[in-house]
Parts: sequence; C-alpha cells; structure tokens
Amino acid sequence: MNKPLTLNRTYPFERSFGGQAIAFRLMTGKDRARILKLAGKLHHEDLLFLRMDITQKAVVDTWCDNIKLGRSITVLAENAKNEAIGYGTVHHDELLWTRHLGEMRLLVAPDYRSCGLGKVLATELAQIAGAQHLQRLVVHIPRDKPHVQHMLIRLGFNAEALLTDWLMDREGKLHDMLVMSRWLHES
Ligand SMILES: CC(C)(COP(=O)(O)OP(=O)(O)OC[C@H]1O[C@@H](n2cnc3c(N)ncnc32)[C@H](O)[C@@H]1OP(=O)(O)O)[C@@H](O)C(=O)NCCC(=O)NCCS
Repeated sequence: MNKPLTLNRTYPFERSFGGQAIAFRLMTGKDRARILKLAGKLHHEDLLFLRMDITQKAVVDTWCDNIKLGRSITVLAENAKNEAIGYGTVHHDELLWTRHLGEMRLLVAPDYRSCGLGKVLATELAQIAGAQHLQRLVVHIPRDKPHVQHMLIRLGFNAEALLTDWLMDREGKLHDMLVMSRWLHES
C-alpha cells in the first residue's frame, strides 16, 4: 500500500524561463495526447535513447496506469499554449525490496533545453520523493552522455555502477549504462 502523500508544494506553479512563463503541474491520465505530441517533437538522438518508447500509445497508457496506482508521480512542464514541453517522473514500487528507492526520469523538449527546466524538474522530484518517504533517488543514463552526468552531479548525484552493454538503443546497438543516485533527506 502506498502511504498517504502530503506535498510541501501546491501545484500548479509558474516560473519564467528566458521571458516565457512555464507552468508546472502534476500529470494525470488526461495528458496522454500531450505526451504523445511531445514525443513527436524529439530528435533522432533522443528517440534512440528513450528508456521507454513514449511515442507508443500503449506505453503512455501504462505510465498513466502507474500514476493512478501511485507508483509514478510526474511533474509536467507546459508552455503558454498548454503544450507539454518536459516532464520529470519519480517511479517506485512499494511491493519490491527496492521500495525505498525512487527512479527519476527526466525529459525536456529539444527547443527548451539548457535554460534550467531540467534542474527545476529534478529539484521538484527530489521534494516529492522525500514526501513519499523514499530514501534515495536513482537514475539510469547511457554512459556516453557527459552533459547529463554533469547535470546530475551538480544536483548531488553520485555514480553507483557502470553496467556494460546494459542498454539497447532503438536501432539494436548496445551501450553501457551508468547508475547514479543521491540520498534524500526529509524536510
Ligand atoms: C537531460 C535533460 C533533461 C536536461 O534538461 P535541461 O532543461 O536542458 O537542463 P538544464 O537547462 O536544467 O541544465 C542543467 C545543467 O546541464 C547543462 N546542460 C544542459 N544541456 C547541456 C548540453 N547539451 N551540453 C552541455 N551541458 C548541458 C546546463 O548547462 C546545466 O549545467 P549547470 O548546472 O552547470 O548550469 C535534457 O537534456 C533531456 O531531456 N535530455 C534527453 C533525455 C535525458 O537524457 N534524460 C536524462 C535521463 S533521466
């Protein structure tokens, strides 16, 4: 059973990035079409490394089911046209022996990168995971993504494990996977 969740933050909230107002709110099952539209804007390199193929409706449906079950909480970033331009998810499974861990998943639309959205989403997820009484946030990334590693280190993550040929990209090529994590402190 998932424990009742009390968040410190009230959603939605708004922040300005380069003069553009971006709204952050919690994703619901009604956001399926918005996520599929965001997936349609990803470049080849992003599509190659999607952890789960969010261009597929069935995959987004499973994600929404996990939100309903309380296994995933997703913060969605939206522009003034109500288009999803990024998201951060913390996923955990209360039934497993890794129930103290939350897995973080982040994605920002190519046109909105490098203006601080990823950091805001990751910071929100750390708060949410703390409120869920999770002890540690974990992230899985391809080894050959130094800018993502850099961002995660700046956010307090440390490298935990390097797994050889652990990821298979969309084209069937194998890549090493880096597992990074950070401890959470309940506020
Ligand atoms: C990783 C990702 C979420 C970062 O989002 P973002 O909004 O661009 O990140 P931010 O603007 O908050 O930048 C965070 C840091 O990364 C750096 N950064 C971002 N993009 C970069 C790039 N292409 N090259 C070098 N550094 C980069 C920023 O300068 C910043 O560094 P700082 O903390 O020293 O200032 C985004 O690139 C993305 O969606 N990538 C594809 C999916 C992915 O790899 N997800 C991560 C796995 S969970």
